[in-house]
Amino acid sequence: AAWEKQVRHSSTPRRVNGFSVLVTGAAGFIGSHCSLALKKRGDGVLGLDNFNDYYDPSLKRARQNLLSKHQIFIVEGDLNDGPLLTKLFDVVPFTHVLHLAAQAGVRYAMQNPQSYVKSNIAGFVNLLEVAKAVNPQPAIVWASSSSVYGLNTENPFSERDRTDRPASLYAATKKAGEEIAHTYNHIYGLSLTGLRFFTVYGPWGRPDMAYFFFTKDILQGKPIDIYRTQDQKAVARDFTYIDDVVKGCLGALDTAEKSTGSGGKKKGPAQLRVYNLGNTSPVPVGRLVSILEGLLNTKAKKHVITLPRNGDVPYTHANVTLAYKDFGYKPTTDLASGLRKFVKWYVSYFGIESKHSKETQHFDESS
Ligand code: NAD
Ligand code: UGA
Repeated sequence: AAWEKQVRHSSTPRRVNGFSVLVTGAAGFIGSHCSLALKKRGDGVLGLDNFNDYYDPSLKRARQNLLSKHQIFIVEGDLNDGPLLTKLFDVVPFTHVLHLAAQAGVRYAMQNPQSYVKSNIAGFVNLLEVAKAVNPQPAIVWASSSSVYGLNTENPFSERDRTDRPASLYAATKKAGEEIAHTYNHIYGLSLTGLRFFTVYGPWGRPDMAYFFFTKDILQGKPIDIYRTQDQKAVARDFTYIDDVVKGCLGALDTAEKSTGSGGKKKGPAQLRVYNLGNTSPVPVGRLVSILEGLLNTKAKKHVITLPRNGDVPYTHANVTLAYKDFGYKPTTDLASGLRKFVKWYVSYFGIESKHSKETQHFDESS
């Protein structure tokens, strides 16, 4: 296969810090940022992505181009392709897997439920089936989601809070992922660390997310919907900046213990951990919009509407004490500073002539 030739003849998956990491979803938003950060600090990285068209694949190709400038190669393939995954592990002795590939998005689950089951459940199981059989087994860090807290009203959310009321099929598949991880840890001794990300945003972000399409619509003079709860309270999110999330992912990889091996025959239980990676400071959607209006120097056409029953939860708020204790995770970017960086990237990436074009002439592609 083309990728095998590439991988065998390039220095891409070379172990420098001792890590050789398979990043699934490497052409995605969080995956591309994490791949670059790992490579920059000297770890070996190989990507896997199916480049699906859930959102404009040209953005995934642009991220791939950026990664290839840093000698990071992305194998084009699906999580459900068992022989491909087995082959990848045969060719490269991965020490770690950073598993970020998934069908993301909360509301889209109402239109295409099967895509969530395929990638987030069947695809995850397939990856674990392959990883359990590798010797030595890689430590796996995977993306869960704040959505597992579902309709919790008590906040901030701590890892031990209940997660039995998912509000969307997306949330249900992420919750299922946590249960599945528990099983593979218990039976096969796989080391597994789940990260519950909270509404992550930033440069190279996802066009299906509100901050991204609000920016587009505000610039194009199109109306936007701002959701309020049934009882007319503001809907709020613990928006988390991408650089903070990347630090959290690397911290989780760094502190992941090795697996104990098949059947738990070796001594000591393998790790099963779950962490919140949020910003600890929820912001109402209306406030997000006013920050964007300021940065874009344009008034939005706002429609405040009652939150439809579309899978959205009214509120998210992370307690990150555990991630701080175990790997020093500490979010440092407030929403206004993070959105400023996003808008700077946005106008540069889409070549928009605006009040900001002067400011963005010296745009640095990496953030
Ligand atoms: P993304 O959609 O940009 O990245 C996911 C990547 O995985 C995409 O490039 C996609 O092509 C790829 N992919 C999807 N299904 C695949 C499959 N079956 N086989 C191979 N590749 C596949 O999303 P993101 O925002 O970077 O999210 C990364 C992870 O974090 C996901 O698991 C997501 O559910 C989770 N997450 C994201 C957020 C957020 O706010 N961005 C919050 C919580 C959790
Ligand atoms: C985001 C990601 O899309 C999910 O993949 C991820 O799993 C989730 O975060 C998470 O943290 O677990 P969400 O918080 O719904 O999901 O992010 P957006 O779709 O960007 O929505 C942000 C906020 O804007 C939500 O409160 C939503 O209700 C609101 N919104 C969305 C509106 O007010 N109007 C819209 O038209 C769309």
